[in-house]
Amino acid sequence: MTFELVVAADASNGIGRDGALPWHLPGDLAHFRALTGRAREAGRRNAVVMGRRTWASLPPRFRPLPGRLNVVVTRDASFVAEGARVVHGLDEALAETAAEPDVEGVFVIGGGELYRAALAHAACGDVHLTRVDGDHGCDVFFPGLEPTHTLVERSGPRRDGDGPSYELQRWARRSPSRG
Ligand SMILES: NC(=O)c1ccc[n+]([C@@H]2O[C@H](COP(=O)([O-])OP(=O)(O)OC[C@H]3O[C@@H](n4cnc5c(N)ncnc54)[C@H](OP(=O)(O)O)[C@@H]3O)[C@@H](O)[C@H]2O)c1
Repeated sequence: MTFELVVAADASNGIGRDGALPWHLPGDLAHFRALTGRAREAGRRNAVVMGRRTWASLPPRFRPLPGRLNVVVTRDASFVAEGARVVHGLDEALAETAAEPDVEGVFVIGGGELYRAALAHAACGDVHLTRVDGDHGCDVFFPGLEPTHTLVERSGPRRDGDGPSYELQRWARRSPSRG
């Protein structure tokens, strides 16, 4: 089973600053909810897989992300995340989600370290990239797409209030056999 990846990155591939998102983009948050929040089939749900620091960056009132199986990846054997499943690697996260019959889609939602592992993984499928204009002085970065990813959809640019403009993109992974 493949998983998808959801990320918002600025022109320098920056994704975070001081343990948080450097921007507030309500339209992008709505896009994130539309992608991950509801499964297409009634009675099923999606899973979101995130690194331990991304879990920590969510305001406690939004943890776990509602309606989704939340999976937190850490190397800390004693880590506890209330309302979430704790695993110790990406493969274990994928095995956990595959073992849940009600899970429809699996989305890796960050941050930088987990994206690196995800992009290198054979089961990585579509990447939903929000390209945010400008350089936002980030201290965490998206590693960048593999040459096997190709842009298949884009919409924008759009802008929320006086925030930076951004474009919603979907990149699909070509099968390696087709080059
Ligand atoms: N713009 C966006 O779309 C977006 C999305 C998500 C997050 N962010 C931002 O990104 C930043 C956080 O990213 P980050 O790179 O610092 O941290 P991260 O990837 O969220 O979490 C890193 C931690 O997760 C665990 N981990 C990650 N990969 C692992 C693996 N392959 N196997 C086992 N454990 C693994 C480790 O936990 P332990 O240290 O506990 O072992 C590691 O220290 C924040 O600023 C956040 O706001 C941005």
